[in-house]
Amino acid sequence: MMKKLLISAALTLGLTSGAMAAGGGEQAITDYEFSFEGPFGTFDRDQLQRGLQVYTEVCSACHGLQYLYFRNLADEGGPAYTGDQARAYAETIQIYDPEIDDYRAATPADKFPENTGAGAPDLTLMAKARAGFHGPAGLGINQIVYGMGGAEYIASLLTHYNGHDEESNGNFLYGNDTFAGGLISMAPPLSDDIVEYADGTPATVEQMAKDVSAFLMWTAEPKMMARKQVGFVGVAFLVLLSVLLYLTNKRLWAPVKGKKLRGDA
Ligand code: HEC
Repeated sequence: MMKKLLISAALTLGLTSGAMAAGGGEQAITDYEFSFEGPFGTFDRDQLQRGLQVYTEVCSACHGLQYLYFRNLADEGGPAYTGDQARAYAETIQIYDPEIDDYRAATPADKFPENTGAGAPDLTLMAKARAGFHGPAGLGINQIVYGMGGAEYIASLLTHYNGHDEESNGNFLYGNDTFAGGLISMAPPLSDDIVEYADGTPATVEQMAKDVSAFLMWTAEPKMMARKQVGFVGVAFLVLLSVLLYLTNKRLWAPVKGKKLRGDA
């Protein structure tokens, strides 16, 4: 009975990890360094502002950010614009208002518009919807060490076009080493100096890819820093509780153990 159980458990594990490895594919993921990694990592405000610029000037042509409010741009720990800057940014964007059945300038109380015209997915939660690391052998253990890698996945996607493009049934597909299957319908959106950063950072493809990925990590998880802080306090509390319980245990059992010791002697 036990033997059968063990065999079937081993088989299941083997099968699922095989299937997961197949799903994960041979994706090329570069483990980019991000400021928000690790238990105390925080978002880099300047990087988020640069990432918003890349999104605005490049990605927004095809992708929406429909779950993000303009007022969030002024959030502490995020891009941290002033309220006036967030308002000024919102006013540059026209959104459709069903109440007046017309377009108008956005206000901080509005959400970013959705954009499905080119068949591109919304990017607000994309950094949480993709994983950069699957291994080893599809078990996902690397995610404990490196994190889920959503931002690494997006940055890698943007930097791993390989030029092996194909046309099938009238659709043009672009070769990409990161995208599952190796062919994506998104044309390479970035090229050097396609944006000009106000802070003078050189706008290389890799730099823009990292900046926009960091920004998309923030849109997907704006409260990441608060989560890490609560997690740290929680663990610290549990460590303290463990010490107290250990001492209590020692004290409670001391008479019993003490008697036994005397009895032995
Ligand atoms: C010309 C239109 C266009 C532009 C500009 C564009 N994209 Fe895309 N994007 C697409 C389309 C279309 C897809 C769907 C691709 C597919 O599923 O084959 C896509 C898919 C994606 C995906 C999802 C990939 C996946 O794993 O499913 C990400 C992430 C992405 N784009 C990020 C970006 C970023 C970041 C930018 C700006 C730097 C950008 N895109 C600019 C059209 C565009």
